[in-house]
Amino acid sequence: MGPALPQPAVPPVPPVMRSVGDSPVTALPEPTFGAPPARLVTRPVHVWRFVSADRDPLSDTEREHADKFQSEPARTAFVTGRSGIRRAAAIYTGMAARDLVVSQTPSGKPFFANAEIHFNLSHSGGEVVAAFSSEPVGLDIESSGRCRDFAEIARRFFHPEDAALISREDDFLRHWTGKEAILKLVGCGLSGGLERARTTAAGEGMLDGRRVWIEGFRMGSHRGSVASFQPFEVKGWFQI
Ligand SMILES: CC(C)(COP(=O)(O)OP(=O)(O)OC[C@H]1O[C@@H](n2cnc3c(N)ncnc32)[C@H](O)[C@@H]1OP(=O)(O)O)[C@@H](O)C(=O)NCCC(=O)NCCS
Repeated sequence: MGPALPQPAVPPVPPVMRSVGDSPVTALPEPTFGAPPARLVTRPVHVWRFVSADRDPLSDTEREHADKFQSEPARTAFVTGRSGIRRAAAIYTGMAARDLVVSQTPSGKPFFANAEIHFNLSHSGGEVVAAFSSEPVGLDIESSGRCRDFAEIARRFFHPEDAALISREDDFLRHWTGKEAILKLVGCGLSGGLERARTTAAGEGMLDGRRVWIEGFRMGSHRGSVASFQPFEVKGWFQI
């Protein structure tokens, strides 16, 4: 286990998240998500929690996509995420949220085609969170308490040296979200191969021999990781 992760700087707003108590060994920082300012610059990384399933900013294609979901929670997560990234990007760019064009890479990673800004989004168990940066970024969140056979999953899918570091679900989620954040950083997702994404110690990762920087955090029962090829600290935690 590496050194404790640094406590993120938090804006001076009332907390909307509560600490849930954790062992000092595995404790991740639990940031307070606050209201964003009217304008922001994407340096180096900000993390956003989206809580509004507002369809107004969505494109026609996104509305059609939303209407195809059979599952209401899945539809709400999609609408909340797309609405959130558009409204957040509007704060960075000064553009109207609806004027932003969301496209995707051949491997499926969404990006803004008409704005110089990078983001990555994740939803799990009712939470919708995204990282924004001036550089490519990956983010994953997962809810805890759902995975009983984490040791077996780690043994089967993680690099053996990383699997050997895991004895508790919290360790597992820290590595899992770190690995998925690395694969989402390059736009591959899980099919990129979890064993390729190394999470050797807190804050350190590697993809095919290339160094990756990771910042872990928690949100109540959720655990999350942000990944970048550049050294970074998350400098703002915002909620809209
Ligand atoms: C991308 C993937 C990791 C998502 O994992 P998940 O845990 O189910 O979902 P998360 O909530 O963490 O992330 C979903 C979000 O990630 C983003 N995303 C989708 N595809 C992505 C990709 N290839 N890379 C990075 N981010 C991606 C989207 O914003 C998506 O949310 P949205 O559809 O509501 O916009 C998973 O779907 C996957 O592995 N897909 C396969 C991609 C693939 O095969 N690519 C080709 C080979 S490299």
